[in-house]
Amino acid sequence: MSNGCLLVTGGAGFIGSNFVLESLNRGFEVINIDKLTYAGNLENLAAANGNEKYHFIQADIVDRERLDQVFAQHDISAVVNFAAESHVDRSIDGPAAFVETNVVGTFQLLQATLAYWRSLSPAQQSAFRFLHVSTDEVYGSLGKEGAFKETTPYAPNSPYSASKAASDHLVRAYHHTYGLPVVTTNCSNNYGPYQFPEKLIPVVIMKALNGESIPIYGDGANIRDWLFVADHCDAILAVLEKGRLGETYNIGGESEKTNLEVVHTICALLDERQKKSHPHRELIKFVTDRPGHDRRYAMDITKISTELGWLPRESFESGIAKTVDWYLSNQTWCGRVLDGSYRLQRLGLG
Ligand SMILES: NC(=O)c1ccc[n+]([C@@H]2O[C@H](COP(=O)([O-])OP(=O)(O)OC[C@H]3O[C@@H](n4cnc5c(N)ncnc54)[C@H](O)[C@@H]3O)[C@@H](O)[C@H]2O)c1
Repeated sequence: MSNGCLLVTGGAGFIGSNFVLESLNRGFEVINIDKLTYAGNLENLAAANGNEKYHFIQADIVDRERLDQVFAQHDISAVVNFAAESHVDRSIDGPAAFVETNVVGTFQLLQATLAYWRSLSPAQQSAFRFLHVSTDEVYGSLGKEGAFKETTPYAPNSPYSASKAASDHLVRAYHHTYGLPVVTTNCSNNYGPYQFPEKLIPVVIMKALNGESIPIYGDGANIRDWLFVADHCDAILAVLEKGRLGETYNIGGESEKTNLEVVHTICALLDERQKKSHPHRELIKFVTDRPGHDRRYAMDITKISTELGWLPRESFESGIAKTVDWYLSNQTWCGRVLDGSYRLQRLGLG
């Protein structure tokens, strides 16, 4: 598979750009199609510039004609679908874009992929994969105990998770109805380099560095399972290579933390790295909760670890230290991504 050509959608976003760089490192050819919304940033891919195995095409996955052209021009061995509107708060303020990209876009991508797949030889057809990248949020919210399994019924609570759930169902249906060789991954919260600063960890780092108050939604006791982005990319490549067709695989870091624990850890790391007269945690301010805020997510990763031998390599402690250091060393990147209409303001009050 490492000689293959991957069509990666949304490869200029946070996880997509980490995935594109890792896939190039592993010898794949990569065609990255990205609409370049506010979340897409070609600067994330500077390390790929000049690599003859890397091609960028600015395109919208909703645009079927453009997708057909891309398929007609390249020998693609797998599609990896990251392209999405991805921020829960934005889905509360403007759900239409989520339905358009996450549902209609995935549908158009499936249609274009199916037409291309049908044109392949039987050997190429059986080697082909469509890997759909999804989230743990489709399963809804957990109580104090237990973890989501691949068999947990879907119960999405936000427009974001509902649109991702709809796309997951379409992907499943294209396997069962048309035989398209699909695999789906559902992953917990990611963190690491190149994450757009609307999500918890980069918001906290940037607010703290600016000496601004650090907002914590509600009581800060919501629990998420955190996974370092490089581990997610590694898991996706394992599923692409060895995952069983039509199956879904849960991916997680086995690192459950309350939001408050995450913020305290970041503040302590910044205290060590940037001595200030007051500890950074004094900047914490509790703010109105997110409407419909899911209380707890946790992933049971038994299936991917036993079937495919994948386990996260990074602990939360090592991953978060690397992440804080990356943001400290990439202040120019941070300044540039905050150049547009988004400047760390509160979103998603509905
Ligand atoms: N971030 C997480 O913690 C997390 C966890 C689990 C799953 N996921 C899933 O992983 C994927 C990537 O997440 P992310 O955090 O990197 O998102 P992101 O918002 O950082 O990046 C999304 C990318 O998709 C592109 N895009 C948006 N609409 C498009 C369209 N219509 N056509 C083509 N490109 C389009 C954007 O320009 C951007 O580059 C998403 O599908 C998300 O649901 C994310």
